[in-house]
Amino acid sequence: MLVTGKAILKHAHENGYAVGAFNVNTMEQVQAIIEAAEETKSPVIIQASQGGLKYAGVEYIAAMVKTAAEKASVPVALHLDHGTDFKQIMLCLRNGFTSVMIDGSHYELEENIKKTKQIVEMAHAVGVSVEAELGKIGGTEDDISVDEKDATFTDPDEAERFVKETEVDYLAIAVGTAHGPYKGEPKIDFDRIKTIKERLDMPLVLHGSSGVPEESIKKAVSLGINKINIDTDIRMAFHRAVKKFISENPDVYDPRKILGPAKEEMKKVIKEKMIMFGSAEKAW
Ligand code: 13P
Repeated sequence: MLVTGKAILKHAHENGYAVGAFNVNTMEQVQAIIEAAEETKSPVIIQASQGGLKYAGVEYIAAMVKTAAEKASVPVALHLDHGTDFKQIMLCLRNGFTSVMIDGSHYELEENIKKTKQIVEMAHAVGVSVEAELGKIGGTEDDISVDEKDATFTDPDEAERFVKETEVDYLAIAVGTAHGPYKGEPKIDFDRIKTIKERLDMPLVLHGSSGVPEESIKKAVSLGINKINIDTDIRMAFHRAVKKFISENPDVYDPRKILGPAKEEMKKVIKEKMIMFGSAEKAW
């Protein structure tokens, strides 16, 4: 069933676990995520970035995820990841997304508050939940890049003011993770997660979570992270399986034979994440 992002994350916040938010561009990714969610009995968020929507088309992504959600026995939310374009956010609302992110993190605080508030008012008017970002998360997510030297951690005082003034439903915080593959091990500021959670008492979001070791993920969840974004690890699973299949079967040209193993490999990775995040068996 298709539900709002808020319904999923309120349950996670109240019950102390995190839900995976997995990025999609293709049908096989949608199917891999839904099958993993059904098999682990996990609520799930399927999200598309602006680049993903440009590639597949917002109507295609919406139709695929809505079809998958209708057939599924677990709660599913359809979310826009890193929305920066007003028109595209409106297009997502029109196409039945149940959650959108307005990413105003590249603006100064006042402007970020103003932009976020505008989207919250419109999205809430049509029953759609909103995620915003405060602080700057490093790395590259599709068409958005933040140089590591420009990345800044979320300030708890600013976070309190930001949430009060914008009435956003969940907040992405910058605590040391980065989008894309890591060179070394990320250093996460766990105390900052704890402080922000205590002060805000609301669902918190961790971006750039691919490649973060299991103990760090579990610690972040125990301190209050409720939505965990994963893109790179799924892309890598896809690439690994396609590369292996083609090198072992260079003459097979049937897309189903090439993409079938990729779907299975992505599903395996996604199931492991769902168990790690604590969302398995939490579907209602
Ligand atoms: P990764 O690509 O590091 O998994 O980050 C995904 C993300 O945060 C999407 O917003």
